[in-house]
Amino acid sequence: MQNIIPNLSLIVAVAQNWAIGKDNQLLWHISDDLKRFKALTTGHSVIMGRKTFESLPKKPLPNRQNIVITSSPDFEYEGVVVVNSIDQLIETIPTDQETFLIGGALLYSQLLPYVAKMYVTKVYKDFDADAFFPEIKEQEFRAINISPRQTDEKSGLQYEYIDYVRV
Ligand SMILES: NC(=O)c1ccc[n+]([C@@H]2O[C@H](COP(=O)([O-])OP(=O)(O)OC[C@H]3O[C@@H](n4cnc5c(N)ncnc54)[C@H](OP(=O)(O)O)[C@@H]3O)[C@@H](O)[C@H]2O)c1
Repeated sequence: MQNIIPNLSLIVAVAQNWAIGKDNQLLWHISDDLKRFKALTTGHSVIMGRKTFESLPKKPLPNRQNIVITSSPDFEYEGVVVVNSIDQLIETIPTDQETFLIGGALLYSQLLPYVAKMYVTKVYKDFDADAFFPEIKEQEFRAINISPRQTDEKSGLQYEYIDYVRV
């Protein structure tokens, strides 16, 4: 059994084929989902890989402590906490409040074993991609909330929100 970090959650928007990104960009724009992301993460620490950080249109994400992992010892950015290893990252996670892992693929796959909760936006379409979320194993996570399926007016994409907790 891994050492689950009780206050570590992840948040992700995944396609039907587990795609999450291509060319260091997101695959869709669903306004309601971005609003939900902001509402859930504001006031909390957010953890991300260096590539996801680079992809942000506005960085660092405002009103959140941004923690970025990179192998580069020289990387620095105003207002950002930089770490250089998973061990260092784990030590940096605040213990007194929910902290969100926000991507990307490399970070999700390395930290999934430590995550206690997942906020997943499931988009009901397959996408061509180069970044994918690891498969969610039903014996490890249980869905506790599933929203009604919704349709994004602009893109026509169908999606739903599923919250999972560790079994
Ligand atoms: N759909 C969603 O919800 C969602 C959310 C977030 C991101 N995304 C997408 O995901 C894609 C990016 O994912 P990605 O896997 O390519 O990149 P990533 O996970 O965001 O970042 C990878 C980088 O993080 C650093 N890193 C990772 N593990 C490390 C370790 N153990 N020690 C030190 N540094 C480490 C390295 O930076 P250095 O190269 O600097 O060493 C590595 O290149 C983009 O397309 C993005 O749009 C989607």
